[in-house]
Amino acid sequence: MSPPIQFEMRRRTLLVGTAIGALTAAFAGRAVAQTQAVVAETPGADRSAVTLSVNGTDRQVEVDNRTTLLDVLREHMQLNGTKKGCDHGQCGACTVTVNGTRVNSCLSLAVMHEGDEIETIEGIGTPEALDPMQQAFITHDGFQCGYCTPGQITSARSVIEEIRAGIPSHVTDDLTTQIAVTDAEIRERMSGNICRCGAYSNILAAITQVAEDQA
Ligand code: FES
Ligand code: FES
Repeated sequence: MSPPIQFEMRRRTLLVGTAIGALTAAFAGRAVAQTQAVVAETPGADRSAVTLSVNGTDRQVEVDNRTTLLDVLREHMQLNGTKKGCDHGQCGACTVTVNGTRVNSCLSLAVMHEGDEIETIEGIGTPEALDPMQQAFITHDGFQCGYCTPGQITSARSVIEEIRAGIPSHVTDDLTTQIAVTDAEIRERMSGNICRCGAYSNILAAITQVAEDQA
């Protein structure tokens, strides 16, 4: 017995669709192969030499163009103080400053920073002469496991500078006077730095103390 007409049409439609799909895949595959051939025939097209000024010292590296600033710092320069938490711009563990401005280094490609001045936690104080923010974190017990701490300290120093520079935040309600260093300002500006240990209240105390000492 022959199948119903409706089934026969569906089966034909399926066969035609499959054939088109196969052809599309073949063309797509050829396009990918051609793209790879172009890249392969152009030596060094996917790599670049980049010079960064890291903690005051010029460092040159040759990297795949897709390498993040974070990976260059950690994997190429062995500056492991800067941490990789999420690698998606959501935790702040990778915070460093670039030309004085804090950035999430996991979201920035190294090749974008030719000649830029990068400061990592290794460039902030020394064990013998701690930066005031580092000392305040110790004094106020602003960490537990410490994984988020380099990013927290880097961000915290920038927060005080941003408030002093008069840069408003989402919670700044008066733009006509000097911005006050309030708990709300600090919490808002530090909201991009996650602490899974929940040391937030002690981090807040540390930043407040540094802001008061430097007022
Ligand atoms: S590792 Fe960059 S924001 Fe989390
Ligand atoms: S101290 Fe452990 S994540 Fe912040």
